[in-house]
Order: sequence, then structure tokens, then C-alpha cells
Amino acid sequence: MDLMVNPLQPIDRTLSIPGDKSISHRSVMLGAIATGITSIDNFLPGQDCWSTVRCVRQLGVEVTELGPDRLQVHGRGLDGLQEPDNYMDVGNSGTTMRLLAGVLAGQDFLSVLTGDDSIRKRPMARIAEPLRQMGARVWGRGNGRFAPLIIRGGHLQAINYLTPVASAQIKSAVLLAGLYGQGVTSVTEPALSRDHTEKMLAAFGAKINTDGLTTSIQPGPLTAQQIMVPGDISSAAFFLVAGAIVPGACLTVARVGLNPTRTGILDVLREMGAEVIITNQTQSSGEPMGDITIKGHGLRGANIGGSLIPRLIDEIPVLAVAAAAAEGATVIRDASELRVKESNRLQAIATELRRFGAHIGETEDGLAIKGGGNYKGAVCESYNDHRIAMACALMGLVASGPTIVHGAECIDISFPGFAETLASLYE
Ligand code: S3P
Repeated sequence: MDLMVNPLQPIDRTLSIPGDKSISHRSVMLGAIATGITSIDNFLPGQDCWSTVRCVRQLGVEVTELGPDRLQVHGRGLDGLQEPDNYMDVGNSGTTMRLLAGVLAGQDFLSVLTGDDSIRKRPMARIAEPLRQMGARVWGRGNGRFAPLIIRGGHLQAINYLTPVASAQIKSAVLLAGLYGQGVTSVTEPALSRDHTEKMLAAFGAKINTDGLTTSIQPGPLTAQQIMVPGDISSAAFFLVAGAIVPGACLTVARVGLNPTRTGILDVLREMGAEVIITNQTQSSGEPMGDITIKGHGLRGANIGGSLIPRLIDEIPVLAVAAAAAEGATVIRDASELRVKESNRLQAIATELRRFGAHIGETEDGLAIKGGGNYKGAVCESYNDHRIAMACALMGLVASGPTIVHGAECIDISFPGFAETLASLYE
């Protein structure tokens, strides 16, 4: 599918965006191994989260669809999952594969996880290794490094795991396996990654404790909860950047998750000169949320790196667009993880933004962008990566003439309705 985008005039709008992808995945997985019925409101009906639903159904869990974004998960308790009679297909979803692997490591049966071309190229040793240390048997292609993964779980020991990468997926896989370990399992990460698993495990009654960069968990049962999923700040980011790069625009995105481990994008947009205002702050299932208003007055370049990176890891493609629209230079460092996402995002965004005439250089672990050019609409590729497709569409807002994004159907992975929300800005 092609997505066509035209330059955007200054506008003043309030938008809503779909539920948070990370929190939607976790609510289904924890609901599946809790006791009782977990209800989920504002579930993200994106392809990745449906992959998680499909997998837990194969494990014997009943999931009732009460509406397009309302689910009930009939939990089977920690030890109630059943051996699936076929392989489980996670599609494009790294979160499904890595977090579910943690749960499956605790099961006394055999399971096989596979997915699409992209996920079968992404590194899996990072979760297979700690799960093996806990006593699970995990096999994979390439000497255990790539999916398909075969997991024969059960009888886990607790470990103290020092992960070399600040990754919520690694941390979560170990913590979920820790629910089945003998003793206290701990994970220490080099910088704080998103902590939705820790927050949700605590809400479900797990004995979990975080001290600085170390989180510890004890085995024990979970109790079903009622979850209201906040809007996804990673989806909101596209419209926040739209508000920031279109001079004179004022955009409000309502009911967005504001977990501090995810709000790096707001810090950077403020540093770049955007006016960011938060109102109507509330809490939902232990997660802060609120309305975000952004006003564009022209941006300036920024330096982005260090412990900020895990707090905006998924926003780097769209931040590259903000940097191209800003005056001056932006340097992004410490972001080599982007090379092993749904696509090689550093290479993909540099290649695509150059089509508009942007001056953007790739470094081993980041990007160097010279902003402030006059950009021309372009024909772009999505690399079958939802965030690259949406970032290219955003660049079309500040380029002269039309922009076309090929392969835009992948946007449904995380943001069903993106094209319609974008189109509403022109009405
Ligand atoms: C996610 C964690 C991040 C992020 C991904 C979702 C999660 O990956 O990029 O989109 O839900 O835990 P890493 O933890 O591997 O950095």
C-alpha cells in the first residue's frame, strides 16, 4: 500500500492515538498466567499485539474480544499453560518473542517460536543465554542465536543477571522466568530501560523490587487485574514532532502514557526549542498519563546520547526528521541497538531522508544531521518497518510537493489508523 502525504499548513488540533504497545503485550501475557479474569481496556489492536493474543491462545488461554480494543483474558495461573500442538508465530513482534520466551522457559513442556523474515534475523542469544543459565534448554538457528527458537522449560534456578544491553525485552524475559525460578532472580542493566513489566508485575501482586538499576523478583502467583492501557507515547511522538516542525502549529495528543522511562522524546523536543505542556495528569494501573500539547516555534539541533537513548529508543527515526527540520546540527550517539530493530533503522532513516535532500550521515552508533534545508517531496521505502514508514510520512509534511511511502501497510503493526489521523490534520 502507498501512503501519499502533502505539505501541512499550521493547524490547531486535539488528537487521540491508540493504546501503548508495550503495555498491551504485557497485560495479555500477565493475564494469561494470573489467576482470574483480567480485563483490558484501550488494548492496542495492532498486528504485534494480536500476535501475542494468538500465541497465548495456542497455550490454552481463552481470550474474549469484547470490542475492537477491549479484551478479557481468562488466566490459567502460573502452571496452567498447555503445550501448544504447533509452532507459535510471533509475526514481526520482538516483544512477543522475547517476553514469551521468558514465560515458556518456566513451562514443563516444549514450545517453538518463530516469526517473519525480520524477526528471524534479530538477535535472540541475548535472551536465550540467561534463560539457559536458569536451566531452560533453548535451541535456535545459527548456534542458538536466531529464531526459530525451541524451548524446553521447567525447573528453573534463580540467577543474578548482569545484562550488557539496556533492553526492557531482555530484562522482562529474565523477570518473567524468575516467577518460576527457585530463589530470588535479579537483573541489573547498564541504564534504565522501560519498566512496564516491573510496574505491571507489582500490580498483579508479584514480589518485585527495584533498587537503582537492579530489579529482583521472587517466584509466586499473580492475581488478575483490570487494566486501562494509556495511549502510546511512541505513536504520539509522530504527531508531537508534526506539531514541532510545522511553524505555528499547536497539537494536543490526549491520554498519553507518561512513564518517565519513555518520555525522553519530550525532554529532547523541549531542548530543541519546542513548547511542551502537560495537562490532565492521572494514573492508570500504576502508569502515569496525561494530555500533551506541543507548539512549534522552529527547532534547533541537539546532542542525544547516553542514558537518554533507552528512554527514546523507538523515537529516533522521527527525531531524525525533527533534526532535519531544525536549524543547526544534531548528533545522535550510543544508539547501535537501532541496527537490530525491525530494520537497520540507522541505515534506513539516513537513506530515506537523503531522498528529500537532507544532509544526514550514518556513524557506527548513530546519526549526524545538518538541519535547516529546503526539502523536496520524495518516493520512500518502508523496509517493512512501521516506524520508518511513519517517519518518512512526517518528513513529507515539511517538504514541498507530494511524498509517497511505499509498503505503508506495515504501519498497522503499531498504529492502526495512522493514515486517517494524519489525513484529519488537513480537514
Ligand atoms: C520494547 C522494548 C524496546 C522497544 C520495543 C518494545 C518492550 O526494545 O524498542 O519496541 O515492549 O519491551 P528493547 O528492549 O530490545 O530495546
